[in-house]
Amino acid sequence: MSNLPSPRTGRGELVLGLSGISKNFGAVSALTDIDLELHAGEVVALVGDNGAGKSTLVKVLAGVHQPTSGTMTFQGKPVTLTGPSSALELGIATVFQDLALCENLDVVANIFLGQETSPYHLDETAMEVRAWTLLNELAARIPDVRDVVASLSGGQRQTVAIARSLLLNPKVIMLDEPTAALGVAQTAEVLNLIERVRAKGLAVLMISHNMEDVRAVADRIVVLRLGKNNGVFTPEASNSELVGAITGATDNAVSRRAERRRADTHTGEEAGA
Ligand SMILES: Nc1ncnc2c1ncn2[C@@H]1O[C@H](COP(=O)(O)OP(=O)(O)OP(=O)(O)O)[C@@H](O)[C@H]1O
Ligand SMILES: [Mg+2]
Repeated sequence: MSNLPSPRTGRGELVLGLSGISKNFGAVSALTDIDLELHAGEVVALVGDNGAGKSTLVKVLAGVHQPTSGTMTFQGKPVTLTGPSSALELGIATVFQDLALCENLDVVANIFLGQETSPYHLDETAMEVRAWTLLNELAARIPDVRDVVASLSGGQRQTVAIARSLLLNPKVIMLDEPTAALGVAQTAEVLNLIERVRAKGLAVLMISHNMEDVRAVADRIVVLRLGKNNGVFTPEASNSELVGAITGATDNAVSRRAERRRADTHTGEEAGA
């Protein structure tokens, strides 16, 4: 088995597999019977409405939540994640939506934050070299690794958070809404970054509400609805197919609104709300 993406499908070996994963919080079923496969060298977008279970699924994969039932395999072997550190040790890294960077520390310190056991730790020169190497591999635009995070733009912060997640050479990286707070140019930069991570042979799972961003980088689009799988799509899927799977119906508020807008542009401006 090769770790390199196959030339035909563009994706490599199965890295992470979920089968029948459920997660209950008391009486709330946040996830029911979820199946998911992540392959080396592919970007999978995880989409769904608010409350669909996306963050819960990411937290299960990050070892934050233990599933109520179901099985997880990593590189073909069944695994149980007992906590976030066991996910990290296995090679599953997560960039949470809040990024968890320290404003008053520089880029190097942030990349090594929480890695006190790293062989580099406390060797400032080695840490700086490693930080530069990680950022260069991503072709990241960070002016100086000694700049404090407080002076960086939103896109640069996302870049630092992604570089930090790559420190331990993971096989899988999960990104929760990586472009949510970013403008057009910064979004494009982060999407480029995601493509570079994929080119390194990692499996990328990206949560996003932005269908444009999803289409731009995803190889597959996995839809969750009410905590259940509700379809897998290619980026060529139409908006109405995707919206239908996300909302559970083609005749829904979003498509009705789009219809109405289309009608309005034909009949001219309409007064009132
Ligand atoms: N710690 C928790 N305790 C109880 N219920 C929870 C907990 N975490 C999530 N839930 C519930 O599980 C369901 C799925 O929530 P989750 O946060 O995974 O959705 P999401 O798809 O990430 O939504 P959003 O797009 O709003 O971030 C919701 O009904 C939520 O209220
Ligand atoms: Mg969420």
